Amino acid sequence: MKIGGFEVGPYIVKEKGGKRHLLVDCRDCIYGTSVADDKACRNHVLRILQEVEADLIVLAEVYERVYEEKQTKMLAEIAAVGQKFEVESIWSYSHLGDVKIEGEVKFGERHDAIVSIAHELLMFDPIAAYIRLLQEMRREKQLYAAEKDSGKHATVYLKTLLYTKKMLESTELIQRAREILSKLDEVPETGELYRTFFEAQVKPSFIGSRLLFDEMEKLELLDEYMVKDSQVQVFKHPNKPERLYFINPPEYSLPPEKYFVLSKTREVVATYRPGRTSLSTIAKSRKYFERVYQSTIRDICSENRIHLGKDEIVELSQIVARYTVGYGILEILLSDRNLTDIYVDSPIGQKQLYVVHSEYGQCQTNVIYTDDEASSMVSKMRAMSGRPFDEAHPVLDFDLPDLETRVAAIGKPLAPDGTAFAFRLHKVTPWTLPQFIDAHFLPPLAAGLLSFFVDNQATMLVTGSRGSGKTSLMTALILEILQNARIIVQEDTLEIPVPYMKNIGFNIQRLKTRSPIGVSKTESEVSPEESLRTALRLGDSALILGEVRSKEAKVLYEAMRVGAAGNIVMGTIHGDSAYSVWDRVVNDLDVPNTSFKATDIVVVARPIRFSGSLRSHRRVVQITEVKKHWTTDPDQENALLDLMLYNAKKDDLELQEDNLKESELFSKISSFSGLTMEQMWQNIRMNGLAKNYLVEMKNKHNIPMLLESENSVIANNKLMLIKENQLEEHGEVDYETVLGEWKNWMNTYLLKRLLKVQKAGK
Ligand SMILES: Nc1ncnc2c1ncn2[C@@H]1O[C@H](COP(=O)(O)OP(=O)(O)OP(=O)(O)O)[C@@H](O)[C@H]1O
Ligand SMILES: [Mg+2]
Repeated sequence: MKIGGFEVGPYIVKEKGGKRHLLVDCRDCIYGTSVADDKACRNHVLRILQEVEADLIVLAEVYERVYEEKQTKMLAEIAAVGQKFEVESIWSYSHLGDVKIEGEVKFGERHDAIVSIAHELLMFDPIAAYIRLLQEMRREKQLYAAEKDSGKHATVYLKTLLYTKKMLESTELIQRAREILSKLDEVPETGELYRTFFEAQVKPSFIGSRLLFDEMEKLELLDEYMVKDSQVQVFKHPNKPERLYFINPPEYSLPPEKYFVLSKTREVVATYRPGRTSLSTIAKSRKYFERVYQSTIRDICSENRIHLGKDEIVELSQIVARYTVGYGILEILLSDRNLTDIYVDSPIGQKQLYVVHSEYGQCQTNVIYTDDEASSMVSKMRAMSGRPFDEAHPVLDFDLPDLETRVAAIGKPLAPDGTAFAFRLHKVTPWTLPQFIDAHFLPPLAAGLLSFFVDNQATMLVTGSRGSGKTSLMTALILEILQNARIIVQEDTLEIPVPYMKNIGFNIQRLKTRSPIGVSKTESEVSPEESLRTALRLGDSALILGEVRSKEAKVLYEAMRVGAAGNIVMGTIHGDSAYSVWDRVVNDLDVPNTSFKATDIVVVARPIRFSGSLRSHRRVVQITEVKKHWTTDPDQENALLDLMLYNAKKDDLELQEDNLKESELFSKISSFSGLTMEQMWQNIRMNGLAKNYLVEMKNKHNIPMLLESENSVIANNKLMLIKENQLEEHGEVDYETVLGEWKNWMNTYLLKRLLKVQKAGK
């Protein structure tokens, strides 16, 4: 393609995410593909920019070099100034001097100088053009000073130079160059300056997503770790409330020969991509694909005489797998289990992705996703789920089988700006009450109290806003169920880590029901109410409902009322207080008041923002008993009895001692267990203290695995056992002795063993 007699690579301008991308095909160009390093390339780009408008520049060969908006703007300004000089033809006769005063003698020389500065040099090396201009001006000024009195010097040429200077200095590139030049004693090689201004991001051309590393120098590094082969950094920005989450995958910083191998491999393997049907088995065959890719890479290397080590070949094969059978760049985020959510908002490509980090809250990432990648993600999701996703079915909601993640995709017309995704990453191991104590989600006493209710087969609902930790808390409560009990878990999305809990000895049966969000008509799954009826027929078991949202509530409450539900019933429900749970269950879900009374306890979780802090912290804010003697409105009839209430000033969930006397639940438990109020509370306190001891030991010895379910459950079992033994031997329990004996066992057995494991691991 020729522009103004110059040969430049073929180019097009494509609109992506509301930005105009200038794509230049540099594959057949003999010059370097870099605005910073190659003058000819810079010249090509400037010439193209005189023809088209663009927000971003992408130079493509086996890899792509991307110039961000600011950089593109700097180049476009130079191109525009160059064009202006040409249009005004500032090197024309009338701009070179005044013939009457000084004659034409110097015109030739001046013409050459100005053409060279404002035309030739400018379009290859604008900074050098500017430096030349300054030199020319200095020379001219000296001449002027010498000839001033003789009256032989006209100021026309000097004016032309001044005008050129003014125009150049109006561009950001020259302004920034001036700033640096003014600090230096010597005029540097201009290449250095271009490298500073036009450091571009490089990526393989088959990856769409761009990474932004803006303003890095202003950021304060908070954390840094590896996720698989990629570096993750979390930063604090001086002026932004949210944290920044940057990933740095190896495929964005490889040497050229590896990019070559990578794109060749990608081309070759595209031909043996698996068919649609086998997509669902991809997760299992990932290793297989990686091996296939390794041999392809080896072939390509030997054909092209490129020498790569074994590790390098493995690394490249993993990258190829990520972008063929994997989830692309998202896979890196999905593998970071410190994240709880990933949001890809529409219109895709306009803003960076957002993530929610379990420690740093909501963070802006450095990843700009693209429409093409989104469509390929959608086809992958369609194939894996076997469900439609189109204008008639704009919601697709399902679990990514290999990643413990649930994804919801919404499309047009529901999302008018196009496809958007929300990923929720499930924790692979269940939360435990000791972990919650450690995270200050609840105090030890509340943990003891909830554990006591589980032990005494209370019916509990955990409520809170979205993401407040309801499901996590309920999962931790399941771990408090005695391991010999049978547990049935019913969920529409598989969030509770049932396989893991089975592994550590729980007897759990899982039922999966139809998702309420998907609007697909091809669903083969069972509805929640049907599933619940089945669950009730499965016999005497603890019954756990992932989320109570619709008709199944009626079935559940009816069963509870007649005592046909399991011995423990727990569920989560959206709400923000005990009262709102009643309101929702009775008024929205049509459960009669009399049935609602089958609820014993409502636990409320809420994200709290402490004054002045931008981060929110999850807290249990209310543990409330539902009393049984009332008729129409539990609030007005004082039937909602707060056992513990959150005090924000003290950041503490406080026991409401005065209310305890009124508790019907405690009376009921006392009547069937034979325990006095005093004994029940000793038991609760002991349990809380034991859990807290685990937390203290974990922090003292820096041994997080002590609080993981596999160990906390062992510790819990042991506590029960010691208590049982005492009861058998002495006919009653002395809770202090039990705790003492248990701590002794902890120190001499569990802790010792884990410390050994930890040491061996290091
Ligand atoms: N106390 C806590 N501290 C830190 N992170 C937590 C805590 N509780 C839960 N989380 C994390 O917060 C995320 C949301 O938790 P969870 O799914 O339990 O909330 P939820 O209230 O059930 O949400 P939803 O309304 O979507 O059902 C999870 O990734 C979980 O691991
Ligand atoms: Mg939940």
